[in-house]
Amino acid sequence: MENRIICNCKKVSLSDIENALHSANTMGDVEAAFDDVQKLTHCSTGCGKCHDKIFDIISQFMAGNPVA
Ligand code: FES
Repeated sequence: MENRIICNCKKVSLSDIENALHSANTMGDVEAAFDDVQKLTHCSTGCGKCHDKIFDIISQFMAGNPVA
C-alpha cells in the first residue's frame, strides 16, 4: 500500500494518521479526533495547508471508508 505523506511540514504519512486514529479515544467526533491525531503526530502544526486533507481523511475513516 502506498504510504503517502499527507503533512509535508511534519512528514506525517497517511498510515501515521490512521495509526493515531486507532489510539484516539474520540471516535465519532471529527474535531476531537483531529486534536488527538495532532497531539500524537504533530501534523498540521506547520503551514496548516494539510488541515483540510487531514480532516477529510479522519471523516472518511470514521465513516468506515479509510483512504487506503
Ligand atoms: S503540510 Fe502540514 S502543516 Fe504544512
